[in-house]
Amino acid sequence: MDKSKIPADQAEALGALMDDHRAVKKQFKAFKDTEARDGKESIALDVCHQLTVHATLEEEIFYPALRGASDEIDDLLDEAQVEHQVAKDLIAAIEDDPAGDLLEASFTVLSEYVSHHIEEEEGELFKNVIKEKVNLRDVAQTMATRKEELMRELA
Ligand SMILES: [Fe+2]
Ligand SMILES: [Fe+2]
Repeated sequence: MDKSKIPADQAEALGALMDDHRAVKKQFKAFKDTEARDGKESIALDVCHQLTVHATLEEEIFYPALRGASDEIDDLLDEAQVEHQVAKDLIAAIEDDPAGDLLEASFTVLSEYVSHHIEEEEGELFKNVIKEKVNLRDVAQTMATRKEELMRELA
């Protein structure tokens, strides 16, 4: 999705979420490009932290703000909720045993899974949010404040 084409009422909130998406996708690539085992572990744990903060923001603030906007949005939110749960299970497995033999496999599956979720969020959910003209100005502010808190709390 092209950030410059997002209407003003949604630009800040969707733009902030898209920035998070870009940041983790960069880290997925960095993990692949890194040979050193300790480097892979620290990237994996950093990604798990970023994803946990991002998913919490969406679940606490963003998704509830969209509930009921349209039937299609409600279906996409149900799907997103299930996808978040699967991602959380993978994150928990990585955080439980970052030094384990399955790090490479678990992180690769997490990368593929989250990349798919990001495509759906930006390609379907965000598109519908713009179509339904959901006003997200207050949501953007609330998410920004909460993000700072979570970065500290979950660090
Ligand atoms: Fe999400
Ligand atoms: Fe997201």
